Amino acid sequence: MRIIFLGPPGSGKGTQAKLLSERLGVPAISTGEILRSAVRAGSPLGLQAKATMEAGELVSDDLMIALIRDRIASPDASRGFILDGFPRTVEQAAALEKLMAGNGPGLSAVLNLSVPEAVIVDRLHGRSRDEGRSDDRPETILERLRVYHQKTEPLADFYRGRRLLADINGMGDVSEISDRIDQALAVAVSSGRTA
Ligand code: AP5
Repeated sequence: MRIIFLGPPGSGKGTQAKLLSERLGVPAISTGEILRSAVRAGSPLGLQAKATMEAGELVSDDLMIALIRDRIASPDASRGFILDGFPRTVEQAAALEKLMAGNGPGLSAVLNLSVPEAVIVDRLHGRSRDEGRSDDRPETILERLRVYHQKTEPLADFYRGRRLLADINGMGDVSEISDRIDQALAVAVSSGRTA
């Protein structure tokens, strides 16, 4: 299966993508994790992305599309993949369609997690205290949310128009949300959209 997680910062995309990856046996590909590990390693990609990420802005479409092109062509992604954090703009979504055209099955489903903004802010403040992620500072959280509404939220309509979007309530226990995801994927399977 080829699955995308959509949703605002802190909605649980990473948490659920990792769990779903274990259930399906396909890799969870987090562009945020790839960038953070590049920053830690001090690689050219990390040097390019660091300041942008710390400001809560988006890294350039060209850089992200090239990164995903290479990653989804890796052998471990040949049976499917779960994208967490990509696409984030309509340009990235259009580029993904081109990359996938004529290269195996299309997307199976786009899982759109929704969580109220006050809960998001609480979750990310909690993570800031526990883990000290550099973009979880209060002012950066607000900027990440602003950027999400402006550039990423329109993707819900983009994928709804392609009959791929499943809205998932992202509130509750992690296992409860996983169950909702499995139900949404079962619907996608029964409607013949999966491979
Ligand atoms: P990225 O790492 O993708 O950050 P994000 O989208 O802001 O997502 P988060 O990791 O904050 O949240 P999440 O939805 O994954 O939730 P999580 O499971 O972690 O991107 C970071 C930056 O990289 C971007 O700002 C940008 O600069 C750059 N970037 C990345 N991709 C890009 C792209 N395609 N284009 C351009 N730039 C890009 O959960 C959050 C917290 O909540 C955790 O502490 C977790 O334990 C907790 N939690 C999870 N589920 C629950 C639950 N059910 N109940 C209570 N707590 C929960």
